[in-house]
Amino acid sequence: MDFGIKIGTPEKQRGACAVIGIFESKKQTDSAKILDKITQGYIKNILALGDMDGKTNTSLLLHNVPDTQFKRVLLIGLGKEQEFKEKTFLTALNTIFSALQKIAVADATVFLSDFPVKGRSNEWKVTQTVIAATGSSYRFDQLKSKPDNAPGNLRKMVLCIDDRAELAACEVAMQQGLAIAQGMSLAKDLGNLAPNICTPTYLAKQAKDLAKTHKMKASVLEEKDMEKLGMGSLLAVASGSEQPAKLIVLEYHGSGKKEHPIVLVGKGVTFDTGGISLKPGADMDEMKFDMSGAGSVLGTLHAIAEMKLPINVVGIIPTTENMPSGKAAKPGDVVTSMSGQTIEILNTDAEGRLILCDALTYAERYNPKAVIDIATLTGACVIALGNFTTGLMSNDDALAAELLSAGEQAGDRAWQLPLWDEYQDLLRSNFADIANIGGRAAGTITAACFLSRFTKKYRWAHLDIAGTAWKSGKEKGSTGRPVPLLTQFLIAQAKAAAN
Ligand code: BES
Ligand code: MN
Ligand code: ZN
Repeated sequence: MDFGIKIGTPEKQRGACAVIGIFESKKQTDSAKILDKITQGYIKNILALGDMDGKTNTSLLLHNVPDTQFKRVLLIGLGKEQEFKEKTFLTALNTIFSALQKIAVADATVFLSDFPVKGRSNEWKVTQTVIAATGSSYRFDQLKSKPDNAPGNLRKMVLCIDDRAELAACEVAMQQGLAIAQGMSLAKDLGNLAPNICTPTYLAKQAKDLAKTHKMKASVLEEKDMEKLGMGSLLAVASGSEQPAKLIVLEYHGSGKKEHPIVLVGKGVTFDTGGISLKPGADMDEMKFDMSGAGSVLGTLHAIAEMKLPINVVGIIPTTENMPSGKAAKPGDVVTSMSGQTIEILNTDAEGRLILCDALTYAERYNPKAVIDIATLTGACVIALGNFTTGLMSNDDALAAELLSAGEQAGDRAWQLPLWDEYQDLLRSNFADIANIGGRAAGTITAACFLSRFTKKYRWAHLDIAGTAWKSGKEKGSTGRPVPLLTQFLIAQAKAAAN
């Protein structure tokens, strides 16, 4: 979809459809007032008829509104003005795009001053609108023999602001929105792909393709390379699978050689059966999404390369299946990680941390400014925070604060859980340096405690996206999160480095 920013109000524009916000209250939006003025109260009369009451989640399509240069006017209910906030704005965007996609319209014009979101600039509204528009037209039907429910004809969105001084900033915000939306689409596609297609080898190929289109450097370590490096923990998870494991490294150089990179490490378990500690059968198909951390790293790199962000970023993706077999790791096995620490595998289903720990040790060689790992790591995180919020744990509170604020800004929020020393004791093992599970209590935190044993040499944060990376049920599918959070964080990092 194409987007454009314009300065203007409804009486001066023309097009296939004007989108006009309508409040539930007497006091109307700027656009509604302007339309009423040029049409002698046309909108007011419609509201008086009661066909549109301004409640959220409602819309009304009008044709041939007199004295306007728009073929259609789409009224969108915004609820009560005094209750209008971010959530209502995002709901309104969904209402707008689902309404637009049901009709033949090819372009539409939105007036951003209709949406008075407290504390948010027009730039923010532009970025969110671009992301919502792209998200609403996303379809994953490449595995169906016939495409289903096509997303309509909408090809272009014009976003109108009234202050010329904001034009340049809004154009940047539009580009950022586009980049984030593209990164999310890539992450969604990879997540939604069937696990017999999206294998570790497939992910490695995707990374190489991405490197080619964006002038990044991709390298892929094979199992024999991992053996040489002593990655006994990652290889233990891979041992049960017929698919060869890979360690994918993508380097994006947007800044000087001397600048230390931010490293993103994404869990890439392309299917998690649990291994010998086999998972129950119900909904096991959803464990194809267990590579969503990897998908978000590729999506974020795509986004920052698209924006040509002046920053250095390295993506590291340990990727494997977790399968049961005669060669699979067993509960009780003791393996030696690349760090030299030995691990007693008490549960083969706690495999994410086993592949991440070797990737986190590998990250040391980049002398990173900070390392962020992204992983669908624990079911416990879904119990704690549900599907709205990513779990965040860190050994550096300043880094944690930067990530929290990026999530807040991007509408892709995280919440911090403690990593206090008390929890570390739960990982005690009688037979090795550390056990790979800590019992039922505080499962999200003990998983992060495990990772923290391998991240002592740098500033590090861990994002548990088990609840946020995909949706279950009728709308089953990848969400593309946390690409917005990560990209926003990197935009802020680049800005800070420039100042
Ligand atoms: N990939 C799962 C985590 C997961 C489970 C994400 C359900 C989303 C929904 C991870 O590998 C796993 O199996 N974790 C175990 C850890 C346990 C054995 C300590 C879990 O959460 O049950
Ligand atoms: Mn598992
Ligand atoms: Zn897993």
